[in-house]
Order: sequence, then C-alpha cells, then structure tokens
Amino acid sequence: MSLTTVTIDTEHPIGTINPRVYGHFAEHLGRCCYDGLRPDAAWPNVPTQMGFRTDVLEALRALPVTMLRWPGGCYADHYHWRDGIGAPEQRTRTLGMSCGLQVEDDNALGTHEFMWLCNYLGAEPYLAGNVGSSTPQELCDWMEYCNTPLNTTLGAQRRANGAATPFGVKLWGVGNENWGCGGEFDAVSYAHEYRRFASNLRHVDATAELILCGHTDEWNAKVLGAMGPQMHLVDHLSIHRYWIEGGPETAFAEGAYYHLLDEAEATEAFIQRTTAIIDDATGGKRRIGIALDEWGVWHPEARPWGPDANPRMPITYEQANTLRDALAAAVALEGFHRQCNVLALANLAQIVNVLQAPVMTEQAQMWLTPTYHVLRMHTVHIGAQALPVVVDGAASLPAGGSGVSATASAQGNGVAVTVINRHLSASAEVAIAGIAGGVGATGTLLTAGNLADGNSAAAPDAVAPAALAVHADGGNWRFQMPAHSVATIVIGRT
Ligand code: AHR
Repeated sequence: MSLTTVTIDTEHPIGTINPRVYGHFAEHLGRCCYDGLRPDAAWPNVPTQMGFRTDVLEALRALPVTMLRWPGGCYADHYHWRDGIGAPEQRTRTLGMSCGLQVEDDNALGTHEFMWLCNYLGAEPYLAGNVGSSTPQELCDWMEYCNTPLNTTLGAQRRANGAATPFGVKLWGVGNENWGCGGEFDAVSYAHEYRRFASNLRHVDATAELILCGHTDEWNAKVLGAMGPQMHLVDHLSIHRYWIEGGPETAFAEGAYYHLLDEAEATEAFIQRTTAIIDDATGGKRRIGIALDEWGVWHPEARPWGPDANPRMPITYEQANTLRDALAAAVALEGFHRQCNVLALANLAQIVNVLQAPVMTEQAQMWLTPTYHVLRMHTVHIGAQALPVVVDGAASLPAGGSGVSATASAQGNGVAVTVINRHLSASAEVAIAGIAGGVGATGTLLTAGNLADGNSAAAPDAVAPAALAVHADGGNWRFQMPAHSVATIVIGRT
C-alpha cells in the first residue's frame, strides 16, 4: 500500500468557517416537526420539554445545531404566523401544505416554541417568510412582533405571550423557491415583489439580514439583474442543492456510489458559479453572501419526481440514511470549507426524519444516522480558520481522481483534519504533514462493512464512530483508513 500524504498549509488560512454553515432546516413536512421534534401527546414514555422530545433535544444540542431555518420550505409560503401564537388550545387548525402533502396542523409549534427550541439548542433562528400567499405587511408584522423593543401593540402582544425581551431574529427569508411552490414567479416579477417586501422590512428592522430567493444560474443572473439600484436590499442569495442521481437508497451499484460523491462535490462548483454571478451583478461592489439553505441527498424512494423516482406510497419524504450518504455529506463539507469566504450559511435538509436527517424517531425510539456522526466529527471545524490542503499519493478512483481527499482547519492551538477515503475497496495509509509543533493527536473513524449500512430502531449503533490510533512519525502523524471511511484527527500544538 502506498503512502498518502495530506499536507496542511497552516501559514495561509483561506478564511473563517462561519458557524452558520453548520445550520439545519426544520419544516412542517412529514414527521419532521410533528412526531420528530414534538411527539404525539398520547405516546407513553416520551419525555418532553416545552413539547419537544427530550431525547431529540439532547442529541441535537450535542451535534451542535448552530442555526435553524423554519417553518419551510414550501410550507413557508402558506404560513401565517398569527396562527401559531397565543394559548395552544386556541390556535387555528390550518391546512398544512408542503410538497403535495396536506395535513391538519394545530400550530402547536409556533413562533414562541421555535424560539425556545433555538435557545435550548444554542441555534440562531432563521425565519422563512411567506411571499407566495401573503403580503409585505404580514411579514413586517412578524418581524415587528419578534424584534421590536418598543411598546407597540405587536411588541406588547409578544410580551403578553411570554417573551419580555425581543427575539432579535437576524435572518429573514423573503419567500422560498418562489420560482416554484412559492408562487411560480418568473425571476423579474419575483425581484420586483422582493423589493416591495424588503424595502418595508428594512424600515421595521434595519439590522435584519434579508435573503433573496435564488435558483438556477439563469434565474440568479436575472433576479439579481432586476434588483438594479435596489441591490442594497439583498444580504444573501438563497440556493438549494439536492443530490438526486445516486440511484436507490440502499440497493445502489458501485457506479452510483461514486456518482453520488461526484454530485455532492459538484455543490462547490455551483457555489463558485453563484459567486461569479453575484460578482458580475454587483460589479464586485456589494458583498452578498450565499445562503445554501437546503442541501443533501434526496433518494428516489422519497420523491415523486426526478431521475429514477420510485416513491414509497403514501409518500412521507423519509428515506434510508447510510454510510454512503454520510460520506457524500463529508465530501460537500470539504467544498463548504474551501468556499468559506462566500458561503454565508448552509442548512442540511432536514433536521429529523425527513430526507437526509441526522436524527430519526419511531414513537418512543430515537437513533442517530451515519450523517449525524459525520457532522459531529466536523464540530471541530465550526468557527475555525479553513486551511489549504494538498493530497498526494492516494490510490486512484476507477474513473480517475484521488481516492483520498481532506479538509483542515485551525482553532486555538489545535489543527483539525478530516480525511475521506472515498475508495470503495482500497484501504489507505495516511500521513498528515506540515503541522509544526504538534504535541499529540487523537483520531475518530467512521466506517461500516458495507456502504449501504445504516442505523435503525432495532440496531441504533450499527454504524458508529470509533477511536482511531494515530502515531507520531517524525513531524508527521500516521494512521490507517479502511476503504469507504472518514476520519477526523485533532492535533494539539505548542
Ligand atoms: O425539503 C423539502 C422541500 O424541498 C422544501 O419544502 C422545498 O423548499 C424544496 O423543494
């Protein structure tokens, strides 16, 4: 086995990995919010706090969840925030709609409960507003209700509902996927609508960060072009990226495994193209952050559209979560770190039960997915300085390209390196080089016998991280990685 060398450049940091890049997304869709975050009151043995299940709260708090986007998704463009405040038993029972599903929504999860959740998790709240079926006034009222320190009627109503201090919500999405479920706008019509919403929102809270709905390269160029002199109203441009070409969730072929990793990797190219479009539209004069506010794998079993669509009926938007999915997430995170100067925030879709969820539940049972574990292994990179990395000597993948890839960051006295051995069948002997003054290293490894292995209520720890032995070798740090695995090494420095 040849030696793979991962050389870290500690002298030329790329930039700071914004904690917002490790955000999550909770939508009133399927069993994400109801069941997943908030159990049915009739279930025995599910302890709760403020109506949220304690086991899920603790798992998410440990992850951590740096930021949380709510209430949608497509649900956001039907949502009327007043339905979700006041005494729970008096709340309106609305038709909850997202992605073709219709449910009765008792609005038990409303603004105050969401803010409690964010506070408990240590997550920054991100509210997605309703453009599709609402008015600038309704969204301005929600912002005033959340953020005003004044004794206006809305401020007083918030206080009467238990929040003496303003919630101080900074991130506001002005609609969601308004090219589709959020109103079927064309880019120019939506841009004009955005201007009306955003100019009014700015009056309510000039410190809020407003997020413009993006889509394809073509839409992004048009929507930004139509902002004209009102570009100052845009703080972030939202893009979504779901990987849909990896074939079945578990019965996938070798080629589909590599294809999913390629698709995950291509998320970085989408970010780079979006950066170029923003630069072009602003003449480099105004800095607009990229808000990748939905990302992850979306398998054919969990969607009625797209390649190989084969939904389990009735559709729930739930899917298997395997080691393959976790490796794909790690591949994407490498790109997020490299693009940390332009990527302002990112939310994995979705936080519980739906799509690439880190946490799954089944009545009183809860388990962590391989995606949870891989995110947890990246915690050391949150808020750190991303560092350039060069990988040499790895086995080639069948279609070419390095079988090993890596990302690194520095924080305090430590350097953290996450290495992926993408090769399906070849193990790797890895040396980390370039870190002067290293005094000790610890390692964690995530792998499984099969790429399609995952966890379940019956076998919650089938795929779980384990300690990895790391040996000092001169100025380098050496360890072995099995095929299809990911490792995080934390090196202390003097
Ligand atoms: O995450 C599921 C759906 O995907 C969201 O509601 C929508 O924004 C996207 O199309």
